Amino acid sequence: MKSMGAGSVRHALVRPVPYSYDRCIRTSREKIDVAIARRQHDEYCRALQRLGLSLIWIRGDNALPDSCFVEDTAVVFGEKAVICNMREKSRANEVTEVAKVMGELKETYRINPPATIDGGDVLVVEDRVFVGISARTNLHAVAQLKKILGNSRMNVVSVKVHRVLHLKSACTYLGNGVVILSKGCFDTSILQGLGKIIVPRGEEYAADCLAVSGTVLIARDHAETRKLVEKEGFRVEELEMSEFRKGDGALTCLSIIL
Ligand code: GLY
Repeated sequence: MKSMGAGSVRHALVRPVPYSYDRCIRTSREKIDVAIARRQHDEYCRALQRLGLSLIWIRGDNALPDSCFVEDTAVVFGEKAVICNMREKSRANEVTEVAKVMGELKETYRINPPATIDGGDVLVVEDRVFVGISARTNLHAVAQLKKILGNSRMNVVSVKVHRVLHLKSACTYLGNGVVILSKGCFDTSILQGLGKIIVPRGEEYAADCLAVSGTVLIARDHAETRKLVEKEGFRVEELEMSEFRKGDGALTCLSIIL
């Protein structure tokens, strides 16, 4: 097994699945079972703990149907945390509680209007920060992020996202210079110099993986993707994500790793 880039990971911010989760923003019409979603979230949290992360809970809020997708509210860069300005009105207040908790842990900054950004559009690969320009995230946000990270070694690069909600719906970082991606969603030339695993046709959902302490969590029932990830030397664990997939969410969406 390879050692992972994210070796110093210690905590994960998570937020309960609200009882209103079946009213989240989504493109699928499949019925969401909130009780099952809550069980899947429990499994997810247990997996993070098994992999050595200590959980920091954000207070749940049934008035915010998407609030379990905590990744979209803030992005962490070492000792800095950037609190997002979320474009979707029904999600905008999700940042309030997250900002309170983050303020205790990190030096916090805010993205301000006219900039809008969701954390799901920010893919950090070592010292490179790829920002998806999507229905949620605009170039004003990229400019503000560049200022916030101006005195760091991080290099911010923007890329237009097609066909998926967020950049990380189509590409995530596994560690050791290897990304996993679904083709046709963004200009992959930005990933120059990185190893690439391309998910097979029909397994596009599996491009959103979560790498924690030497293990890659992937969505259950993506056997070909699993083989490709293992072939690159990573240990893999599968999690059932059916109810989050129906809510246009995936593995990275449910936590912020600190
Ligand atoms: N349900 C995830 C989102 O649309 O933000």
